[in-house]
Amino acid sequence: MTQQRILSGIQPTGDLHLGNYLGAIRNWVDIQESYDSFLFMADLHAITVPHDPSKLAENTYKVAAMYLACGIDLNHATIFVQSHVPAHAELAWLFMCITPLNWLDDMVQFKEKAIKQGEAVAAGLLTYPVLQAADIMLYEPDKVPVGEDQKQHLELTRDIVNSFNHRFGKPKQPVLKLPEPMIRAEGARVMSLTDGTKKMSKSDLSDLSRINLLDPPDLIQTKIKKCKTDPIKGLTFGDPERPECNNLLTLYMLMSGKSKDEVAAECAEMGWGQFKPLLTEATIAHLKPIQDKYYAIMNEPGYLESVLKDGKEKAEAIANPTLLKVKKAMGYSISV
Ligand code: TRP
Repeated sequence: MTQQRILSGIQPTGDLHLGNYLGAIRNWVDIQESYDSFLFMADLHAITVPHDPSKLAENTYKVAAMYLACGIDLNHATIFVQSHVPAHAELAWLFMCITPLNWLDDMVQFKEKAIKQGEAVAAGLLTYPVLQAADIMLYEPDKVPVGEDQKQHLELTRDIVNSFNHRFGKPKQPVLKLPEPMIRAEGARVMSLTDGTKKMSKSDLSDLSRINLLDPPDLIQTKIKKCKTDPIKGLTFGDPERPECNNLLTLYMLMSGKSKDEVAAECAEMGWGQFKPLLTEATIAHLKPIQDKYYAIMNEPGYLESVLKDGKEKAEAIANPTLLKVKKAMGYSISV
């Protein structure tokens, strides 16, 4: 039996942090043996807000190295760069012409990013989720494993696919297969260290709000020491009045590999002074092998280039035939 396909990606903007790892990459690693995985760096999405051209390629390589360092195995996964496969931009255009403008108006991520941008908001920021729909549909994956924040973009993708099939498919013969989102509850939303009600994010101005995957031990210690807590002794999961407490216990659970029950029992009587060193130690220990592997990969000349060249070929072998199928359904002549 052929394996089901999954597809996902991350924008190469800024350093990856625990939220990216726990919300996305870790899940890809955990399920990779059961799926044929296509994982990419969304470098076309990375320019929807002003970017530094001198950093774009470097950041893209860094994310690829981080996928591998976190345990993505090339025997199960294809890693590639979005901009290396021109079909992404082309399908995005075709989808843009069948997506009603008002579907894009209520995208939460657009609104948040547009507010941060102030005046000069690029049209590409609005059409960002249409490019994402193209990213997904070129590979017609069975599932799309993402963090909670991407749920709305996946719903939009499904709406676009339904509309496309309705307009260009024959009854009972859809052109494109509907993808399912795959969102893992635990760790799907890692919150900021400085505000337990806000998502941990690359774009937060304060670096103290997140733990980056490459933070050295002393910095991890400082960030956890300074992170926001509350004045209550005894640490518990799930108290809506204590968002920081829930977030930090969840981080401890995921970093230590202990079960929720074990952590709940271990921390039930603890104060923050006792808990923070435990979280610090578990985080440093969890990230050490990832960091070692990352630097080894980055120091091997030519290795990433060869991985990404191979990835481009494998990705195009799937994406290009899908694009042709879509163009044919829309009425384009494709034989020249
Ligand atoms: N928008 C996603 C994010 O910010 C990144 C992304 C782009 C993506 N294209 C995708 C994720 C396709 C899944 C599938 O995290």
